[in-house]
Amino acid sequence: MYGVEGSADRGDVAGEGGDEDIDLGHWSVNADPDAFAERMLAGDPIRRSERNRAWLLMSYKAATEGFLDPRLSSDRTRTFTRQIERRGAAFERTYELLSGWMVFRDPPTHTRLREPVRRAFTPKVMERLRQSVEDTVDELLGGFERGERLDLKARFANPLPALVIADLLGVRREERVRFQAWSDRLAEIVFSVETDNYDEAGVVAATEEFISFFAEQMEHRRHHPGEDLISKVVNSGLDELTELEVVGACTLLLFAGHETTTNLLASSVRALFEHPGEVERIRRGEVEDTFCDELMRVAGPAKAMVRKVAEAHERGGHELRVGDTVFLVMLVANRDPATFADPYRLDLGRTFNPQLGFGWGSHLCLGANLARLEGTIALGQLHRRFPDLAPDGEPPRWRGNPLGRSIRDLPVVL
Ligand code: HEM
Repeated sequence: MYGVEGSADRGDVAGEGGDEDIDLGHWSVNADPDAFAERMLAGDPIRRSERNRAWLLMSYKAATEGFLDPRLSSDRTRTFTRQIERRGAAFERTYELLSGWMVFRDPPTHTRLREPVRRAFTPKVMERLRQSVEDTVDELLGGFERGERLDLKARFANPLPALVIADLLGVRREERVRFQAWSDRLAEIVFSVETDNYDEAGVVAATEEFISFFAEQMEHRRHHPGEDLISKVVNSGLDELTELEVVGACTLLLFAGHETTTNLLASSVRALFEHPGEVERIRRGEVEDTFCDELMRVAGPAKAMVRKVAEAHERGGHELRVGDTVFLVMLVANRDPATFADPYRLDLGRTFNPQLGFGWGSHLCLGANLARLEGTIALGQLHRRFPDLAPDGEPPRWRGNPLGRSIRDLPVVL
């Protein structure tokens, strides 16, 4: 959905203004988003990138208007049909599963798929998750010693969200390893729509494994309901979703909530190394309600969201044609001085902060509050327990593509 596995090579420029083409996937955008945003915000807020084969909506106004415009579609089902034709009938089930991902659909199907899941995030479910996050953070950090050297991304930022999602879905934590393997397989196809670089048998097998695993979980929950999300969805009494759609929702939650949260945690720790004064505010508990959104604004993992033009229209003097690709560029919009006071300053106490890192409008991230909970508890505990936390060695190695950015690893001394 917004994976960052692709990697940008060191080239010349990401777009210097004037007639130079822009490349949102360029390494320099990942390494220095402030410099890129400043350059972009000085020019036309809507620009064409030939390199990315997309229209880029970059100011806060252009991006939020894009998020709210029904002429810009999230629907990918036509692409899926084309892929089945190209890749063969074996993929039909995989694309059927992906068609149940709300993030790839427009209303009214989007609304039908989203509502039961949205309602399942009840206050009781969230309270249970708070406990799960606190316990999991405690457990993971409890295994480390002060002064120890380790890769904090691999040992902390990566396992935490996966364990929390297992709890959200109410499945045993030991199952996490199996999930991860299936998820990685499915990711091959989600992120390789334009290529044929995937293991066909592996993807098809992973789809079937996912379906039979979650179908079993659903059957169990019908008779033994608990305070987990699957129980809430299958026992909503509304029977709005088919079995495959519930499986689709579960797989989407696994995808949408894992790598994104891992990358937010890792990039945030890295960003905070440059701001010891701000870290002190976290340690003292002064900025508990605001710091996570500020880190999302400057270090959020999603750079842009993709839409397709469903109805030809004129936008800021440009003609957008049906089928054109549009990127809603949150990385730039989140630094727009027309919305954010002093946008290049990290201010963890920022109170007016309508950052777009979780999207905007009808597809607004369903897990935003869970991600905030994880970010707030994880980063708070980490900095309180390990006040001498410091980078171990060289500057971060960024990777990314036009849609997302992350650091490869996070070597630290605790
Ligand atoms: C830092 C972590 C996260 C980031 C940066 C993030 C970002 C986003 C963004 C930008 C969207 C909007 C997609 C669009 O407009 O096309 C989205 C949607 C979504 N997110 Fe997240 N997310 C995060 C964590 C989570 C978590 C923890 C979950 C659940 C466990 C989750 C579940 C979802 C779902 C289900 C959608 C689809 C909503 C829809 O299409 O209506 N996300 N997320």
